[in-house]
Amino acid sequence: MKRIVILISGRGSNMQALVERCAEQGWPARVVAVIANRSDAAGLRWAEARGIATAVVEHKAQPSREAFDFELARAIDAFEPDLLVLAGFMRILGPDFVRRHEGRMLNIHPSLLPAFPGLHTHRRALAAGCKAAGATVHFVTAELDHGPIVMQSVVPVRPGDDEAALAARVLATEHQIYPLAVRWFVEDKLRIEGGLVVHADGASQVLI
Ligand code: GAR
Repeated sequence: MKRIVILISGRGSNMQALVERCAEQGWPARVVAVIANRSDAAGLRWAEARGIATAVVEHKAQPSREAFDFELARAIDAFEPDLLVLAGFMRILGPDFVRRHEGRMLNIHPSLLPAFPGLHTHRRALAAGCKAAGATVHFVTAELDHGPIVMQSVVPVRPGDDEAALAARVLATEHQIYPLAVRWFVEDKLRIEGGLVVHADGASQVLI
């Protein structure tokens, strides 16, 4: 049984999708803890109500990025995870932290990476006149919103879309691809070959 720790900063809808799919589909895994960098992260309440262990490492209470990473690593280690899942976790993690968890830390980002890393992805995609948008699940490397791509979803950008409409369309696909990608990880289906992620059985790694 693989142990999953999920890191969140807010609403936690991706975290909820993961917890629910994991339980419904009987993955060989268990979400053992949800950890947030803010005590007001709404997702914490949801996890508590489901009986999942929670912890908070307030970034504001730490004197430096390094100190935050250290405290976060300590909180995570207590749960002995096999996989760390960043689900709307909005803090940049330092290179030492990332190196320690390399190959067993996933992130989801609401753009078709490598386009639009960072913030305000939907606003930027609309401003650029993109005709398609989407989300990317990737292994985390020291570079922000960068790393071997596990799966992507693609949605159309429709005339008249605003940021909220596009974000909602993309988020609905996030809730599909993230659970699938995490399931593949816990079932040992993913290999990184030459910096690229391949699925052992050749499953499609795109949702269109
Ligand atoms: C999601 O859209 C996720 O892709 C994004 O934050 C949102 C969190 O929503 N993550 C990033 O932008 C990371 N760079 P959620 O808390 O409801 O899962």
